[in-house]
Amino acid sequence: MPEPRDAAKQPHPLAGLLDRRKLPRHVAIIMDGNGRWAKARGLARIEGHKSGINAVKAAVEAAEEIGIPYLTLYAFSVENWKRPETEVRALFKLLEHYLDREKKKLEGGKIRFRTIGRTADLPPRVRSRLKDLSLKTGKVEGLTLTLALSYGGRSEIADAVKTMVEDARHGKLDREINEETVQKYLYAPDLPDADLLIRTSGEYRISNFLLWQVAYAELMILDTLWPDFTKDHFYEAILDYQRRERRYGGIVDQD
Ligand code: IPE
Ligand code: IPE
Ligand code: MG
Repeated sequence: MPEPRDAAKQPHPLAGLLDRRKLPRHVAIIMDGNGRWAKARGLARIEGHKSGINAVKAAVEAAEEIGIPYLTLYAFSVENWKRPETEVRALFKLLEHYLDREKKKLEGGKIRFRTIGRTADLPPRVRSRLKDLSLKTGKVEGLTLTLALSYGGRSEIADAVKTMVEDARHGKLDREINEETVQKYLYAPDLPDADLLIRTSGEYRISNFLLWQVAYAELMILDTLWPDFTKDHFYEAILDYQRRERRYGGIVDQD
């Protein structure tokens, strides 16, 4: 008798509709709406953040299944430090537990994990876990999962300029400064331009995310609150992206 097939291994129902030749190289997500999700249920905001972790797992799994090379998730902005200390502390505790729980899976898997942002500002317990995981998965060839933590697009550009000027002062920068030079000084210089930027919770703004890298990204705003985000949303976003016409300032019939 044939073995019953593991439901988890079945391809996603939308997988067959994807055009493999037109996959985005880099998908970036602004994971927003955790607080509202909790409020709508009469729960504390942190409960929304907790539920948001399932959505993170769904997005990562979908990106892996589809074969997206780069997935970047906005988890904590430089501006989020303005929030009440209790929420900030609870958020980082949650991240710490998530990293501990997922450690084995992430280390043994096919994910290259790393962070972007002013991570020196993060609690030491979180920092050491992030560093450890980045080191252990640094050479993995698979999905590059970048977590943006204490991240700001303007801070990234300001930090790049600062280091560039220091290098120039020490005679380490003698070439002409162009876009390529700036790219080399970003937090993750190999991170390609974002092709698709998804934001949940119906807010039509960038909130200081990947300002340099989103120059020509296709934008997708979903009304769904982040904890309700599923693999279906991810697949549908890719399908929608594939129906778009990207022109980069050129014209359609240009040869
Ligand atoms: C996004 O959800 C998660 C973080 C910014 C850390 P929010 O906490 O911003 O939730 P809303 O936008 O208040 O609903
Ligand atoms: C953006 O969400 C930051 C993250 C998702 C980490 P926010 O909730 O902080 O953004 P605003 O304040 O609505 O612009
Ligand atoms: Mg928000």
